[in-house]
Amino acid sequence: KNYAIGLDLGGTKILAALIDEQGRIVHKTTCPTLAAEGQEAVIGRILSSVETVLTESGITVTSVRGVGIATAGVIDTKANKVLYANNLGWEHVAIGQIVSERFGLPVQLINDANAAAVAEWVFGAGKGTDNVIYVTVSTGVGAGFISDGRLITGKGDSAGEFGHISIDPDGPPCACGNRGCLENYVSGPTLAKIARTRLANGEKSAFLSQYPLEQITAKEIGEGVMQGDPLCKDIHLRASRDLGAGITSLIHLFNPELIVVGGGVMTTGDYLFAETEKVVRERAISRMAEQVRLVRSSLGGEAGVLGAAGLFLHRNHQPVRAL
Ligand code: BGC
Ligand code: NA
Ligand code: ZN
Repeated sequence: KNYAIGLDLGGTKILAALIDEQGRIVHKTTCPTLAAEGQEAVIGRILSSVETVLTESGITVTSVRGVGIATAGVIDTKANKVLYANNLGWEHVAIGQIVSERFGLPVQLINDANAAAVAEWVFGAGKGTDNVIYVTVSTGVGAGFISDGRLITGKGDSAGEFGHISIDPDGPPCACGNRGCLENYVSGPTLAKIARTRLANGEKSAFLSQYPLEQITAKEIGEGVMQGDPLCKDIHLRASRDLGAGITSLIHLFNPELIVVGGGVMTTGDYLFAETEKVVRERAISRMAEQVRLVRSSLGGEAGVLGAAGLFLHRNHQPVRAL
């Protein structure tokens, strides 16, 4: 058995991939999630994605060690259930069991950012280091911690909800129940909302004014930054202060050697990353800051599937109970 399947169940798309022991993607397939069509339809697309990867690659199920499923939100790996996934509108969905019964394979669920952390550690920028933190800024903000050579899972495998640490106790309420969560300051949808509000309040942006307000997303803001648009740059600058303060806390808590920053919002230019690093260097305890490098993710959109499959491909993953 030399392969594992990784599946990334995202709010907008499902990516499934057959991965070999070296972390190479042998075959992959993608389809839209279309969560609005309901749970059954999404489950159907998950099953057919796994099916497609197997049939199109010609690899039989007997060569596959298992299926790792990465998803945002809170999961229960013992019951192999998604307990709460905001982006899918799911509560208590036993997706692990469904996939396992259908293909006769072991299935392991893992938080998407935790999966990406595993991927960067085993196959990516964190190879060879034992203290790696992965931070993602996308639709949500998340993290995964590899500390002293193991993924920190916590009691219920939910450790790493970086997006839901409060950076302002009086801040706006978050869907999670907390207030002033980091995710409500620096995620993709939040940056878009900030841009729309500032434009609606009369601030000017030559770049963004090409678009109708409702078409502005984090992508347009990122492009604006690359064009040197002052409003877009200011939005990223403010985001870098919040993100930088958050990452500084992670450095103080975990004393990492490497922080890998990824996620869609980070793929637009270098400004946000560079400014965030500046904030971290200014704020973190210098003896700890000296020990850490900040890099951008090298695995990009494939980190989730690589990490989920990696649960079955790397002996270091025993602490995650996959083997
Ligand atoms: C979720 C996390 C997830 C992150 C990135 C957050 O909103 O709570 O579980 O890792 O988004 O997708
Ligand atoms: Na996480
Ligand atoms: Zn929250």
